[in-house]
Formats: sequence, C-alpha cells, structure tokens
Amino acid sequence: MKILVTGAKGMLGQDLCPTLEDKGHELIEADIHNFDITDKKNSEDFILDKKPDLIIHLAAYTNVNLAEDEPKKAELINVAGSKNIAMCANKLDIPIIGISTDYVFDGKKTTPYLPKDKPNPINVYGKTKYMGEIEIQKNCKKHYIVRTSWLYGVHGKNFVDTMIKMKDKDIIKVVNDQIGAPTWTIDLSDSLLKVLDMPYGIYHMSGGGKPVSWYGFAKTIFELLNINANLIAVSSKEYPTIAKRPKYSYMDNSKFLRNWKLALKDYLNLTQ
Ligand SMILES: NC(=O)c1ccc[n+]([C@@H]2O[C@H](COP(=O)([O-])OP(=O)(O)OC[C@H]3O[C@@H](n4cnc5c(N)ncnc54)[C@H](OP(=O)(O)O)[C@@H]3O)[C@@H](O)[C@H]2O)c1
Repeated sequence: MKILVTGAKGMLGQDLCPTLEDKGHELIEADIHNFDITDKKNSEDFILDKKPDLIIHLAAYTNVNLAEDEPKKAELINVAGSKNIAMCANKLDIPIIGISTDYVFDGKKTTPYLPKDKPNPINVYGKTKYMGEIEIQKNCKKHYIVRTSWLYGVHGKNFVDTMIKMKDKDIIKVVNDQIGAPTWTIDLSDSLLKVLDMPYGIYHMSGGGKPVSWYGFAKTIFELLNINANLIAVSSKEYPTIAKRPKYSYMDNSKFLRNWKLALKDYLNLTQ
C-alpha cells in the first residue's frame, strides 16, 4: 500500500514510517517542510499529486502546556489542519487514520474509557484534538480515529528518558493521582494498521496491562534498571502544571497492544 504520513518527522512518525516500510508498504513521509497542514491548497496539491492509498494523520500541535497560551495556534493546526487532511482523503476516496489522545476525556470515570464514551476535554490541547476528531469524521467518509496515550519513543523528549536523567537527584517528585497507560511508539506503530480490518470509527490503542500513575510508571522504570532513586509520590495539587490533566484517562484498548511493562522492558534494553 502507498501510505502518506503527516507529522512523519515527529516522535511517533519516525518509528511508524520505518515500521510500515518493513511490512512492505511504500511510505510518503510528509512534514512541515513538505507542506503546512493549515494551508489547504498546498496540502491538497501535495497529497492529490502523490495519490496515496491511505493517509495516517499524525501532524499536530502537541505541546499540552503551551497550548493554554496559544489556543488559536493549537486550534488552527489540530482542527483546521485535520479538516484539510481529511478532505484530501475524501477527495481521493481513501481511508484516513487520525491519531488522537486520551486527553479528550475529563478523567471523571474510574473504569476504562470506551470509544463510545463522550469526550469532555479539560485543557486546550484535548479540546482541539477532540474538535479535530469531529472534523475528520465529518469530512472523510472512510475514517478511523485512533486514540493513544502517554507516548514515549527514542525520537522525542519523553517521560522515561526524563526520569533516567534525574536518577541522581536528591528527590524526584512524581504525581500519583493521574492514572493512564504508557505506550511505546514501536508497539503502536506495529499494530496501527490492525484497525483497517475493522469498521470505520473510533478505536483506543494504548499500552495494555493495568492502569498506572506517573509515579507507578517511574517506579517501574527504576526497578527494571535496578536504580535506587529517591522517588516521592505527590498529588497534582503539590505539582501544578499550566494545563490541567485528567485524573484518570486509562482507555480500554481491546487488547490491541501488549502489557505496557513488557514494552518498557524492551525500550530500556534497547536504549540503556
Ligand atoms: N506524545 C504523546 O504522548 C501523545 C499522546 C496521545 C496522542 N498523541 C498524538 O500522536 C500524534 C503524534 O505525536 P508525537 O508525540 O509524535 O508528536 P510530535 O513529536 O510533536 O510530532 C508532530 C509532528 O507534526 C509536525 N507539525 C506540527 N504542525 C504542523 C503543521 N502545521 N503542518 C505540518 N506538520 C506539522 C511537527 O513539526 P514541528 O516539530 O516542526 O512542529 C512534528 O514533526 C499527534 O497527533 C499527537 O496529538 C501524542
């Protein structure tokens, strides 16, 4: 299949593209240097000329805290940009897979979020990603929305590497009242195309296994590395961030991906 990926130079894109190439697909790796997704004409010229069989739309405004100060920019990229890309897929009559986030939920549930649960985002990033989901569904008949969470991978600044860099600090404070599921970019890349066997719609694809807090995730990182770090569990109130985060955003992932601990083990073996 000829697959066009937007946001190909981002953290997920840099693992997704070679993974799909290894599976025998032809990749068109698009990023801001090829066309800006907020530019409707440039996006259309590029995409219609390449005639892909599938678009995987990753390009996004992803800085959760900064989005609170730049809501217009986040909206332009995540909503108008997603609409432009979805319209191109529709013109070509091909499917689009749009990647979205657990941050579309408000975190008030205490059991795993299901694709049919109503989003109610509590920060600008989550709101714009949710509005982007709606644009994709409205503007492309053949749409898949795949929500993932807490991504980490070698090609981006991520929580795992941040924890390891901090290992010698006197105290490492990590919040224990935000619960979710870490997801290795390689695991998501490997399984993403499974949705093509399913009806068009919304799917959740994040690390499997038990829900975990950021504190629990950090504890597991240090345990697997046999590092005796001085980790202290704190509440979100003690560790405020500019953007509010949902207290619970663990999503039922229909067993698409393996246990997040197994993935973490592999990531650490590869990188440490
Ligand atoms: N990271 C997570 O924890 C997480 C969790 C859930 C869902 N997601 C979603 O997963 C997808 C991939 O995330 P990621 O972490 O790989 O993000 P990322 O590293 O920030 O990559 C996004 C890519 O999109 C590009 N981009 C931004 N604005 C653009 C525009 N106007 N036109 C064209 N390209 C543009 C970026 O270029 P620049 O770097 O030059 O801006 C970057 O290469 C995103 O849709 C994100 O919302 C991420």
